[in-house]
Amino acid sequence: MNNIIAKIPKIFAPLIKTKKRYKLYYGGRGGGKSYAFADSLLFLGRMKKLRIACMREVQDSIKDSVHKLLSDRISFYQLTDYKVTETQIINKITDTTFIFKGLQEQNAGNIKSLEGIDIVWLEEAQKISKLSWDVLNPTIRKAGSEIWISMNREAENDPIWTAVGANPDERTLVVKVNYTDNPFCPEELKYMAEKCRRENPEDYEHIWLGAPMATGDYKLMNYKDVRRAMDAILMATQSPLIIGIDVARFGDDHTVFCFRRGRYCTGFKSFAHLDNVAVANQATFFIREYKPARVFVDAGGVGGGVVDILNDRGFKKIVRPVMFGAKALRDDRYHNRRAEMWDELRLWLSGEQEVYLPKDENLTTELCAVNKKYDSAGRLQLEEKDEIKKRLGHSPDTADALALTFAEPVYERTSNYYDELPENSIESLFRVKKSNSSW
Ligand SMILES: Nc1ncnc2c1ncn2[C@@H]1O[C@H](COP(=O)(O)OP(=O)(O)OP(=O)(O)O)[C@@H](O)[C@H]1O
Ligand SMILES: [Mg+2]
Repeated sequence: MNNIIAKIPKIFAPLIKTKKRYKLYYGGRGGGKSYAFADSLLFLGRMKKLRIACMREVQDSIKDSVHKLLSDRISFYQLTDYKVTETQIINKITDTTFIFKGLQEQNAGNIKSLEGIDIVWLEEAQKISKLSWDVLNPTIRKAGSEIWISMNREAENDPIWTAVGANPDERTLVVKVNYTDNPFCPEELKYMAEKCRRENPEDYEHIWLGAPMATGDYKLMNYKDVRRAMDAILMATQSPLIIGIDVARFGDDHTVFCFRRGRYCTGFKSFAHLDNVAVANQATFFIREYKPARVFVDAGGVGGGVVDILNDRGFKKIVRPVMFGAKALRDDRYHNRRAEMWDELRLWLSGEQEVYLPKDENLTTELCAVNKKYDSAGRLQLEEKDEIKKRLGHSPDTADALALTFAEPVYERTSNYYDELPENSIESLFRVKKSNSSW
């Protein structure tokens, strides 16, 4: 076997050199964790026969696993003693085997196959649920077996952190590692980290220094992005008009209509104490007058009735009901549609392209009031509306109406749909003096 020297930063030396049941490395992006774990396992596997399980919470396909990283490192070091197959990696000399599994897919039957494992590598371990950990930990029972954990911190109460990292005993190694500890950290990553440090110190602490987000105390929106949009001067665009309607659920909430054309949020119309028919009548007026390409209606609760009336009036082609609690379009990333829409709004505000929001202190407060968290599958979730309401004293109706305009991408105006209707411009609605409706 050829003698090849591994390029592993010193801080990871205990992975190979010490015997511990649990070895947990945590920290921010770019700390070198994934590479060092991969290299260390590959080099250990060349010295003696090991059965190694590379696991994460969910592995829908081998592409989700560290199989590619290990293969890339094998190519980089030209480790010709390793054979890479589609599902495994095997050392032809020592017979070391790497297998790749998702913890959630383990059941009573196939978890048995893990009993002979020498080393488990739990990658992205912040995503691992308590249930998965409680099943896995006692299954890895071979004498001298080790559990290696690489993770970025998410919340204070990450299950793996609570179980292994928070109170380490003599069988547990816990090491913090950040990009500043990684001698191989690419310039691009260092640049991104520095930019984040200057522009958003709170995010920097979490993303780059591995600080957990304080539970329930982490904002989705960046205040600066909201201000920037409110200070922007943008000419009206030809993008299709989208209307979002947040329908009042309770007596004290308002029904809010939001009007947006691409990068330009023209404004809001807010109404108190409207019943379903009155909301539908307002919507009908706006649809006839301003010919939106889409109208997204919050259809949870009473809003469903508004959608029924609008459909009955023949607007089915452009009116879309949106259930905030329903499965997200990108279910792997978002807990529900509400989180997805709000995150689309966040991306719109924080993107390279300048966007425009009307100057409105109430809107700023609502947008910046929403805290984010992550569910056990690692998907973005927003805090409950009731919680926000408790803090604000009212529901974030205006911000919800704006978020609704991001429910689905809208590319173009519904063809010919309005041909028989006269042209009108939404901007004219906001040029008139404020009427009886509040803003
Ligand atoms: N041994 C190495 N040789 C060459 N480059 C390396 C090495 N270790 C790390 N790097 C570089 O540093 C980058 C960050 O390393 P790595 O992806 O392992 O960090 P991480 O701590 O797992 O971060 P993340 O949280 O982003 O997954 C890699 O993309 C790679 O460019
Ligand atoms: Mg990594």
